[in-house]
Amino acid sequence: MNYKIALLPGDGIGPEIVAQAVKVLHAAGKKFGHRFEFTEGLVGAAAIDAVGDPFPDETLRLCMDSDAVLFGAIGDPRFDNDPKAKVRPEQGLLAMRKKLGLYANIRPVSTFQSLIHKSPLRPDLVEGADFVVVRELTGGIYFGEPSGRSEDGEKAYDTSIYTREEIRRIARLGFEYAARRDKRLTLVDKANVLATSRLWRETVQAMEAEYPGIAVDYMFVDNAAMQIIQWPKKFDVMVTENMFGDILSDEASVITGSLGLLPSASVGIHTSVFEPIHGSYPQAAGKDIANPLATVLSAAMLLDIALKLTEEARAVRDVVNRSMEAGIVTEDITEGKAYRTSEVGEWLAANI
Ligand code: IPM
Ligand code: MG
Repeated sequence: MNYKIALLPGDGIGPEIVAQAVKVLHAAGKKFGHRFEFTEGLVGAAAIDAVGDPFPDETLRLCMDSDAVLFGAIGDPRFDNDPKAKVRPEQGLLAMRKKLGLYANIRPVSTFQSLIHKSPLRPDLVEGADFVVVRELTGGIYFGEPSGRSEDGEKAYDTSIYTREEIRRIARLGFEYAARRDKRLTLVDKANVLATSRLWRETVQAMEAEYPGIAVDYMFVDNAAMQIIQWPKKFDVMVTENMFGDILSDEASVITGSLGLLPSASVGIHTSVFEPIHGSYPQAAGKDIANPLATVLSAAMLLDIALKLTEEARAVRDVVNRSMEAGIVTEDITEGKAYRTSEVGEWLAANI
């Protein structure tokens, strides 16, 4: 089969890590008899510099016309340190999520046997941890209006808004994931303080009857932040709103030992987007040292979820595991010889 894949490398280390995933996808295509046609689009600071818009219409059209999107990273220190910047690279990512209707972000967290020792947590706590964060991605405080500054600049505000239907559609996905896994779902909210969280809780409580096989529990986000670290094996599927999911998924990455290992899938109405959960790591940009595995594992999710190529996806995950066992990894996850980003990509492509 022929598949069209949009590549949005973005900023910082984005281009180098996406390039490795492309090598692996080409190799997988060759092995299994598929052709992947890649087309690059602009996003983020790179797009602001080129055309003044962090998510140009042309990029939107490219995404809409593709079978899947592989995304690198977004963010640039030039903008981070300028709170007054009129246009920000991150707006490109948010516009992409909104315009493609990507209301669900799936972030699986699991450990790799050969890396257990890299986790700052005790091995007996993290070994076997395996859960999925299902993060709402197009609502809440990231998008609520009004948001801005008072005229005198002395006051700023953001608004968190959720409708019952927005909560239902993401919760449904969480229940479906739980049904295919260990049949446990945790709703993370702040219902003791926030009105939106109380609507989340009420909505999910009302859905419990539709999914009798799933055990549901409810946890305040502060408590969840503690339990992820103290008892990560307790979780199976965690469903939560946009900002809580953003924060908890970075926290969860310490369980695996490196932020460079966590892939994600954003799904919803139009073309799905696959991206590592980490940022643009500007200090490493162009140095060929960044860990490409989160992006390669995102490509595996792309094969699995967008193209329904499960065997191909398994082959990608398998070669990633073997690279770790063989120690063909970047500096962030080894005490021994560190390989370059491009060398890891080449090894994966040659050994799939
Ligand atoms: C993420 C990132 C983004 C987010 C940023 C870059 C806007 O942190 O995908 O988790 O907050 O959603
Ligand atoms: Mg984040």
